[in-house]
Amino acid sequence: MRPANVLVAKVLRELREAVRPGVTTADLDQLAEKRIRDEGGIPAFKGYHGYPATICASVNEQVIHGIPSARALVEGDILSIDVGVLMDGFYGDAAVTVPVGRISERAAELLRVTEESLYEGIEQARIGARVSDIGYAVQRHVESHGFSVVREFVGHGIGSAMHEEPQIPNYGEPGRGPRLAEGMVLAIEPMINVGKPAVKILEDGWTAVTRDGSLSAHFEHTVSVTASGPVILTTHNGAAAAAGVSATSSAPGVTSVGAPGNRESRWRKRTR
Ligand code: MF3
Ligand code: CO
Repeated sequence: MRPANVLVAKVLRELREAVRPGVTTADLDQLAEKRIRDEGGIPAFKGYHGYPATICASVNEQVIHGIPSARALVEGDILSIDVGVLMDGFYGDAAVTVPVGRISERAAELLRVTEESLYEGIEQARIGARVSDIGYAVQRHVESHGFSVVREFVGHGIGSAMHEEPQIPNYGEPGRGPRLAEGMVLAIEPMINVGKPAVKILEDGWTAVTRDGSLSAHFEHTVSVTASGPVILTTHNGAAAAAGVSATSSAPGVTSVGAPGNRESRWRKRTR
């Protein structure tokens, strides 16, 4: 599954670098599609249940599934970019929320806490844990900062299909649901609002927005459950952190959630 996931990470990194005031979300979509096809991948979202684009580009109060358009980004916006790739028969799926120029302190905190919550969830992706341990960890972190977890959308298993069992809610009690087993691959993707959790879908049939109009952020990684701990597949070089330390070259400002020290030995090289 590595090539699809590495390509997702590369494309996300390039998109992040292309984001600035004046750029349209359609520009970003075009860039993503070209990069994916040039590398021999197939945009996974395009045509999926009729979805019309390569990326999802969700601005400000848009939670997920924003359709790229001629809308130009402006300073102070936050933009959630979601990318999926099919390559060699396998899918990769990841998302980041990025600032457009300078953003408000509250928006910056939302981005930071949402990304942290993703890593809190990833930490739980261990053999023998339960699916709901992931959502519990995400929710606890997010709510401790006064933000809220979107309920209507969930993470998912991923592999030779983009959406596989199990569903992975970003909230709930720990110790529920299927046990995680070696070799499972999960797309963990917290969607977090500044205000209330409720969302609605716009008339385009896709764009999910917060009902209260508050800002929303979305971070996602595709993660493998291995004997040596969670391994993030959606990283630029295919190497990823496990066993207590999480990091990714696709996301500067990475979060270390493990115990300090012994960092080198905790890194794992993904072999497949
Ligand atoms: N990461 C999202 C998901 O897992 C992206 C899907 S967009 C869609 O559902 F257009 F393909 F639906
Ligand atoms: Co996903």
